[in-house]
Amino acid sequence: MRVLGIETSCDDTGIAVYDGDRGLLAHRRYSQIALHLEYGGVVPELASRDHIRKTLPMVRRVLEEAGTGPGEIGGVAYTSGPGLAGALLVGAALGRALAFAWGVPAVGVHHMEGHLLSPLLEPGGPAFPFLALLVSGGHTLLADVRGVGDYAILGESIDDAAGEAFDKTAKLLGLGYPGGPAIEKAALDGRPGRFHFPRPMTDRPGLDFSFSGLKTACVHAVSGQEGVLDSRTIADIAAAFQEAVIDTLTIKCDRALETTGHERLVVAGGVSANALLRRRLKDLGDRRRVAVHYPRLELCTDNGAMIAYAGYLRLTAGQHEPLGFGARPRWRL
Ligand code: KG4
Ligand code: ZN
Repeated sequence: MRVLGIETSCDDTGIAVYDGDRGLLAHRRYSQIALHLEYGGVVPELASRDHIRKTLPMVRRVLEEAGTGPGEIGGVAYTSGPGLAGALLVGAALGRALAFAWGVPAVGVHHMEGHLLSPLLEPGGPAFPFLALLVSGGHTLLADVRGVGDYAILGESIDDAAGEAFDKTAKLLGLGYPGGPAIEKAALDGRPGRFHFPRPMTDRPGLDFSFSGLKTACVHAVSGQEGVLDSRTIADIAAAFQEAVIDTLTIKCDRALETTGHERLVVAGGVSANALLRRRLKDLGDRRRVAVHYPRLELCTDNGAMIAYAGYLRLTAGQHEPLGFGARPRWRL
């Protein structure tokens, strides 16, 4: 089966075609970063309007690049939540309408399920079961994954997501949006030892996370400086912050691998693009003899390929939506 995937949950428009026999045939991502830049974060109304402009021309282009006509598409998958309500509705309406016009089934996919399954669309991807660390702008969670749709959440953030903490701290340091890549770059020049931030919730049992205190610790570090922040101080704070987030994520992964006994760890979501996180989790994997899997770098952040793939798995398992459609802005995995 060949599936068209549509992702519009936030500020990326993602379109892809996944084929059950041949894998990912084509995918395109359009980022709205430039549109939201001057506001320091995503403006929901602007996001919806831009998705409306971009989706249909991108569908045409991706079908062309995949060398496929609508007649060969066997199903359509779209992100139906969680995310921004208006943005989600654009993808859902388009996905449902195309499926109706082409006479094929449509399925609404959970955005985080898309991230979670994305490493499996690569050749040599992990087999079930595995431990998943999902780290994005909206979520931070550890899940015990036994099969498609069989997910037990072991721990999650009780406040800010890891990516959100990166974004807020970057804003505080005047590094712009999105904060993850900006902090990662600034931290390269950071000197270790000048600042030290807490590793929240690592001194007590359990697998939940909390990142809002870390952001507050950065606020105190900034307000403790006299005058305008110089670039060395910005780099030092960025490095200490990044170190604290990644150390915390690594400690919790270690703990989750210990309690579950899993031999595979899947890491996905925007923050999984972070090179230091990858290095630390590789060390953890080597130490525990656990294989660590990621999606390819361009599929770490939001994209249509992961939705096409998750939709393919759901559709081939016989699931699809009735003719109506909707968005679930606050949908639990
Ligand atoms: O998965 P994603 O594209 O969207 C959501 O589902 O939220 O994740 C976006 C998040 C943003 O918070 C961004 O700052 C973060 O991922 N991010 C990173 C890096 N690249 C993106 N965080 C740390 N290091 C990176 N290299
Ligand atoms: Zn995402």
